Amino acid sequence: MTKDKVLIFDTTLRDGEQSPGATMTHEEKLEIAELLDEMGVDIIEAGFPIASEGDFKAVSEIAERAKSSVICGLARANYKDIDRCWEAVKHAKAPRIHTFIGTSPLHRAIPNLNQDEMAERIHDTVTHARNLCDNVQWSPMDATRTEEDYLCRTVEIAIKAGATTINIPDTVGYTAPVESADLIRMLISKVPGADEVIFATHCHNDLGMATANSLAAVEGGARQIECTINGLGERAGNTALEEVVMALKVRGDIMPYTTGIDTRKIMNISRRVATVSGFPVQFNKAIVGKNAFAHESGIHQDGMLKNSETFEIMRPEDVGLAGTSLPLGKHSGRAALRAKLSELGFDLADNQLNDVFVRFKDLADRKKEVYDDDLMALVYQNDSGDDRLKLKWLRVVCGTEGPQTAEMVMTIDGKDVNTSATGDGPVDATFNAVKALFPHGARLQLYQVSAVTEGTDAQATVSVRMEEEGRIATGQSADTDTVVASAKAYINALNRLLVRREQSEPGYDVKGVSYKDSA
Ligand code: KIV
Ligand code: ZN
Repeated sequence: MTKDKVLIFDTTLRDGEQSPGATMTHEEKLEIAELLDEMGVDIIEAGFPIASEGDFKAVSEIAERAKSSVICGLARANYKDIDRCWEAVKHAKAPRIHTFIGTSPLHRAIPNLNQDEMAERIHDTVTHARNLCDNVQWSPMDATRTEEDYLCRTVEIAIKAGATTINIPDTVGYTAPVESADLIRMLISKVPGADEVIFATHCHNDLGMATANSLAAVEGGARQIECTINGLGERAGNTALEEVVMALKVRGDIMPYTTGIDTRKIMNISRRVATVSGFPVQFNKAIVGKNAFAHESGIHQDGMLKNSETFEIMRPEDVGLAGTSLPLGKHSGRAALRAKLSELGFDLADNQLNDVFVRFKDLADRKKEVYDDDLMALVYQNDSGDDRLKLKWLRVVCGTEGPQTAEMVMTIDGKDVNTSATGDGPVDATFNAVKALFPHGARLQLYQVSAVTEGTDAQATVSVRMEEEGRIATGQSADTDTVVASAKAYINALNRLLVRREQSEPGYDVKGVSYKDSA
């Protein structure tokens, strides 16, 4: 590797998926991994194999399918985790084991290990991992709150035991850019053997400094950035892949480092991750937000018309945003739809195109102009043929005179059932109807509506997050009728909860895997 290349390590499928409600299905994980591989991500952290049978299967299958990326799995500092991780990643062309332990005083207290005991554990587990795999990454969790001397000591032990990458996590998003650079610089200059390994940076965004901290770490000598698409992750999330990659591309004058990422694939994967994780991208998010390339004020629009560089530091095409083009309408045929989708970066198989075409015709009957964003919402519709619950028919009565009422027909396990329910507003009545037809104990945690495009005939996208006995699932749907979109999103979340119920076993949830098991 040349000194100025920065490796991109994506952990959307592990650290990103750990954010409450962001659980993805098996197929979705495979799809995201394929997109990451295609866009040139160097290392994909595909999951935490010991956490569940589901995680193990996802990591194994991603490992088998990956074409170019290194496939990595996470393991705590114990032999059982490491063996399971190796079982999952060993099928990859290029496998990696990533093992970690919390080294700060707060984290050492949990497994109740003193400094010497922990040092011995690091030596033993890294040695064990290296005996299985040539490519081993070690992380001192909460490194930025670990005593400097002890951090150096543990990093030295891990290197001597065979770690090939040393990752320095800012687990709680506590560090600041100057410190982040200094910490890596200090480790590289003080720890014997440091020049033989790659240093990585893994920053969380609790103070909004994750991207800046990651880039500063590169200045300090790190050559691997750990990140997620859209910055997905627990609490305030992780460093966003699109931010670091575009910052390095646009500001190559002061940060002369390259990555192997095809930036034109950014927008597509960002939208896909937003859909499958149920975490919509905020409008003003850097690079991938809906407004990132929008110009509304007169002065800005005027400047843009004369020279786009007046208010844009990168071109929309650089991140895969198609230039503005004409909307489709109800007379547009299958060929026009295929051409437009391909322009937007979707190459659909014939059967997928047929499904989208049916939905497109239905939408075009109700909406005069179908814009790019409408089409993307159609492509990303979440319902799958295997769903146990489906909405068949819905009529809602609402207005100033209550009670608002929803009449509904649902297909449940292939059988049609119907009911009528009232509620405090049309959405409440609709959700009550679903509950009457399919009684459940899940609690609604979030209900969010946004318009896909402008205008009163715009499609509404609805996100719903539900919780049942600690399991969380999100559902999404889009429709020009907000109540229909709400019903479908609610049913989509229930279907996902049902899948999770079936997968459940003690310790299934990665968020439930604790330190205590690591002894
Ligand atoms: O944030 C963190 O410390 C982690 C480790 C497992 C690397 O995600
Ligand atoms: Zn993390």
